[in-house]
Amino acid sequence: MKKYTVSASSVYDVLIGRGLLADAGRYLAELYTPRHISVITDSTVNGKYSQVLMTSLMEHGFRPSKILFPAGEHSKNLTTYANILEALAEDCISRSDLLIALGGGVVCDLAGFVAGTYMRGIDYIVIPTTLQAAIDTAIGGKAAINLNAGKNLAGVFWQPSLVLCDPGTFQTLPEPQIIDGLAEAVKCAAISDAGLVPKILDRDLDYVVERCISIKKSLVEVDERDTGLRQLLNFGHTAAHGIEKLSAYSISHGRAVAKGMIAEARGAWRMGLAKTDISGDLTEIFASLGITPDIPFSARDLYEHALKDKKIRDNRINMIIPESLGKCTLRRISFTELSELLRLGVEA
Ligand code: GLY
Repeated sequence: MKKYTVSASSVYDVLIGRGLLADAGRYLAELYTPRHISVITDSTVNGKYSQVLMTSLMEHGFRPSKILFPAGEHSKNLTTYANILEALAEDCISRSDLLIALGGGVVCDLAGFVAGTYMRGIDYIVIPTTLQAAIDTAIGGKAAINLNAGKNLAGVFWQPSLVLCDPGTFQTLPEPQIIDGLAEAVKCAAISDAGLVPKILDRDLDYVVERCISIKKSLVEVDERDTGLRQLLNFGHTAAHGIEKLSAYSISHGRAVAKGMIAEARGAWRMGLAKTDISGDLTEIFASLGITPDIPFSARDLYEHALKDKKIRDNRINMIIPESLGKCTLRRISFTELSELLRLGVEA
């Protein structure tokens, strides 16, 4: 088993190892005395993993109950959020009880936002069951839901007390979800470690998970509130959030981020903001994963959507600019420059 300790506004462990899910109760018992636990999960993960988790929790004296919602990005909204809060209150969950997020990115985001706001904040544990969630959403305490206007527009910073990552759960993931996770890993490689690329293409998932978590941990520790360096993790996301929203979420997050990275890298190079053009390398890497660079929306539409981006301050936006594959920097640009970057990036 591998352990990382994240030192942010609170300090917590991220444990990585096969079999951790079935042993979750033991790890929780090291942190908490027996209490009521509400396990928040979705309709897909429920049938696969909730029973083994509930059994382990009961074996260690905890009293688990479960809140379920329909799987998919469409559930990441105010209605599901409100339903979960009401269910917790109905279930008499108090602030000294616990929540567990069991699932992929949508579950982790929703449950994290619930945890940060229910009774002004309750402890929660994250057990990611997708590669994407393990290397991104589960770590760092950023949790959000979508509004009609766009993705992740209502949220909190609320750190979990423990993250249990069991790569055994990735074995049942359909191929498109593995690819989504690998796309997110390519983002980590592009901003921080080009040496990760061969491991991603070899699908060395154990290595990829550990390395991506260590990259994310470092960025969260220097910039928990996402005002600076942590924004490197948003490479490709300015375009990607527009792509996801405009496609009514039929283009998955991982694929949208891949297309967004290629477009943003190309636009930054063509504008003279980037020292190197890494869009060709990214296109090749993503081609190996079966992801094409085409974006079925206009640069104008992406620009209009980008005006709702959370990285905007004082009519300027921080963009992630590649220096080389494995190294990116942040640069504040004007809306006019953003419009030009997206136009040049989306054009073939
Ligand atoms: N998902 C990007 C971040 O946590 O900052």
